[in-house]
Amino acid sequence: KVYRASTTAPVNIAVVKYWGKRDAKLNLPTNSSLSVTLSQADLRTLTTASCSASFPASEGDSLLLNGEPSDISGARTQACLRELRSRRAALEAADPSLPKLSTYPLRLVSENNFPTAAGLASSAAGFAALVRAIANLYELPASPSELSLIARQGSGSACRSLFGGYVAWRMGNKADGTDSMADQVAEASHWPDMRALVLVVSAAKKGVSSSSGMQQTVATSGLFRERIATVVPENMAIMEKAIAEKDFEKFAEVTMRDSNSFHATCADTYPPIFYMNDVSRAAIRAVEAINEKAGRTVAAYTFDAGPNAVIYYQEKDTEAVVGTFYHVLQGADIGGWKSADIKGLKPTISLD
Ligand code: DP6
Repeated sequence: KVYRASTTAPVNIAVVKYWGKRDAKLNLPTNSSLSVTLSQADLRTLTTASCSASFPASEGDSLLLNGEPSDISGARTQACLRELRSRRAALEAADPSLPKLSTYPLRLVSENNFPTAAGLASSAAGFAALVRAIANLYELPASPSELSLIARQGSGSACRSLFGGYVAWRMGNKADGTDSMADQVAEASHWPDMRALVLVVSAAKKGVSSSSGMQQTVATSGLFRERIATVVPENMAIMEKAIAEKDFEKFAEVTMRDSNSFHATCADTYPPIFYMNDVSRAAIRAVEAINEKAGRTVAAYTFDAGPNAVIYYQEKDTEAVVGTFYHVLQGADIGGWKSADIKGLKPTISLD
């Protein structure tokens, strides 16, 4: 008999960024963060986990990612698998009638519904789907927040992909990390007008991985100390209020300021780290021009550890925002954007 479970997990894009670890082994952050979960129709990982006594033990656990065998021997993945197995083993110990799934090799098959070449962070959706697929297979009685504790050990941002809508990852302060998990700040339906526009500036793999980039920032940036001490706590508070009140102006301002603050600490890292390029900066100018023309803030940019832009806006302002970028996506040159550089993903993405 083969036991099997499938699940999907969405991509999330932070509006208050996670950048810095206080414990690299347990993957504990130096600050809380807040993200928006994007629609699974557009961006998600689908993972199927199966196990069986008939799978040869010599085979061990395996992962097929987008059709290719993928290495799962890394400490992060192993931490997730170990934790899930030990929870299953505890259930089996308590109820001897349960099949001993914890002793069988695991076969994992994962697929993204967006091109890896889009350069979007896929580790968040990837680890969230992996953890939930195995938790379902093992029939673990775990809440999304409990699963977020496990997914966090795979990739920090993954803990936020276990929820839809607006999601906070509370940094916690315990040394063992048992209070460093995600919770939902608001459902997507709370603010049905919210949209995201993904602008793929470059599909090239990022130069410095976020894991190593943030370690370098923690070790060398003075500006970073200010960011975690005052900037982020303030941004978290204002952002939660802005979401509760559906105040787009505030939401947008904090989103842009926090992205700028994060990239400033990257520039303050020694040696400096640059994730944005000239096209990214042209996107910032385009957003500023759109807001200026509208006479109010209708669009907000944010950038992760790479040059691609995500623009948040409200459906009612589609014309002002997407109207402008639409020409970019169609190949016109706007404010330094070069048509050849741009492959638009789905231009408009709603939230889940
Ligand atoms: C800039 O979650 O990829 O996207 O925990 O080392 O796997 P690890 O880092 P990761 O970092 C994401 C950084 C970010 C900001 C964010 O998503 O909050």
